[in-house]
Amino acid sequence: MPEQTLIAAAHAPGKIILFGEHAVVYGRPAIAVPLSDVRAYASVFPAKKCRVRALDLNRTVDVGAAADDDPFALIVRLLCAELGQPLPAWRLDVRSDIPIASGLGSGAAIATAIARALLAGFGAEMEPSRLSALVYEVEKLHHGTPSGIDNNVVVYERPIWFVRDQQPEFFSIGSPLHLLVADTGIPSPTRHTVAAVRQGWQANKSHYESLFDAIAEICHAARDAIRSGHAPALGQLMTQNQTLLSQIGVSSPELDRLCRAASVAGALGAKLSGGGGGGNMIALTKPENTDSIIKALKNAGAARTLQVTVS
Ligand code: MEV
Repeated sequence: MPEQTLIAAAHAPGKIILFGEHAVVYGRPAIAVPLSDVRAYASVFPAKKCRVRALDLNRTVDVGAAADDDPFALIVRLLCAELGQPLPAWRLDVRSDIPIASGLGSGAAIATAIARALLAGFGAEMEPSRLSALVYEVEKLHHGTPSGIDNNVVVYERPIWFVRDQQPEFFSIGSPLHLLVADTGIPSPTRHTVAAVRQGWQANKSHYESLFDAIAEICHAARDAIRSGHAPALGQLMTQNQTLLSQIGVSSPELDRLCRAASVAGALGAKLSGGGGGGNMIALTKPENTDSIIKALKNAGAARTLQVTVS
C-alpha cells in the first residue's frame, strides 16, 4: 500500500465548562457543553511501525518505545489492549484547532480523536462510557486528580450534568444559549491551578469546602435556569460563580478584565471557564448585543473570540 493511503480518520470536539469547575474535583456537580467548532483530528496511514505524529507540536512518538507517561502513546496502548490487538503498523497524524492549556479540553479531545481513529481503523466500536474511561486514564497524566468531566463531555458530545464517579446526566435546554468564548492568550496548564487549589484546600479545608458548597448551589440553580430558558438568571449565576472562583484563587487580572469588559458591554454574565489562571472566559450574550461585546472583549485584550450557540 502506498505510504499516504488513508486508512481511517476521526475527530473530537473541545469543551467549555459553564459552571462548577474546580469544585467538581471535590465531588460537587458541574455543567459542561461540547465546543463543536474547535476540534482535534486524527488520521491513520500505513507505516513501518506504530507512531503518532503530533503535527502542531512537530513531534513524532514511537508508541512501542515511548515512556509510560507519554499521553499519545498511552491512548494508543490502552485502546489496542482493550481490543486485544497488537500495536498496528500505522502512523497517526494528529492536529488540533483547540488551543493547548486554555481550559477548552484539548487533552481529552486529542486522546478521543486518536482512540476513535484507531477504532475506525480496526473496524471496531466501543461504548462511550468505556471510551471515556480510557481517555480518563490519559487525563490523569495531564493532572493527577481529574474529575472526569472533560473526557465525558468530549466523548458524549452533549451538554452534561456531571458528578465525579457517576455517569453523566443529559438535560434539556429551554432556549438556545448565546455564548462568547474569549481567550486571554495566556496558556495555563490545568494541573497548575488544580494543584494550587489543592494546596489552599489543605491549608483551610472548611473555607474551601464552603466555597465549593456555594458553587454547587449555583450549579443546581443554573440547571433550572437552562431548562426553563431563563437567560438573565443564568447570567447572574455565571457572575456569582466567577466571584467564587476568584475567592478560590483561580482567576487572573486578564480574566477579570475580560469578564468586566463583557459585563460593561451588556453581557448577561461572565466567568472564566476550565482551569483558570489564564486560558478562556465565557460571556452569555443576547443575540442583539453580541457584536458590541466581541468588540469590547477585543479592546480588553482578548487574543481571540469564538461565538457559540448551545441548543
Ligand atoms: C478542567 O477542565 C476542569 C477542572 O475542574 C479540573 C477537573 O475537573 O478535572 C479545573
